[in-house]
Amino acid sequence: MSLLDILTFPNPFLKNPAQPVAQIDGQLQAVIDAMAETMYQAPGVGLAAVQVGLDKRLLIYDIAAKEDGRQLHVLINPKIVSQEGEIISENEGCLSVPEFRSDVKRAAQILVEGADRDGNPLRFEAQGLLAIVLQHEIDHLNGTLFIDRISSLKRQLYARRVNKQIKNQER
Ligand code: NI
Repeated sequence: MSLLDILTFPNPFLKNPAQPVAQIDGQLQAVIDAMAETMYQAPGVGLAAVQVGLDKRLLIYDIAAKEDGRQLHVLINPKIVSQEGEIISENEGCLSVPEFRSDVKRAAQILVEGADRDGNPLRFEAQGLLAIVLQHEIDHLNGTLFIDRISSLKRQLYARRVNKQIKNQER
C-alpha cells in the first residue's frame, strides 16, 4: 500500500468541514489502513481524513509510546458531546502545519461519541494528551487548524513564513 500525501497549510481543502461517513465498507477500510501507514511513517499521533484530501468525518490516532507497541484507534463521525475545564496543550504541532509549534488552550476533559472502524458505537471520556489529540483531530474535521486557536499575530507570522517559502520554491 502506498503512502498518502498530507495536505499542508495554506491548502484551502483544510478549511472545509468534512461530510459524515455514510457507509462503512471495504473501500473505507482500505482508506483507514493507508491513513494508518501514513500517520506512522510521518510520524504523527493522529491524522484526520481531510488532511489526506478525503471529505469524510474520520480520524485515527495512536498515542501509545512506541515501546508499548502500536495501538491504532479509529473514530468515525466523532462528536464532542461535552467538555470541562481548561488546559494548555504545550508545544502543539500538526503534520499539516510543518515547522511550527505553539501552546494551545484546550478543554481538560471531553466526552466523545462516534463509531469504531466496524461501526460499533463508542462513547468515552478523555483527558490529558488523549483529550488534546482528539480535540485537535476533530477540529480538522470542522475545517479548523490549531493555528486558528492561537493569537492572530503568531498565525500571521507563520503564514508569512510559509508564503515566503512558496515564493522561493516558485523562483
Ligand atoms: Ni493536525
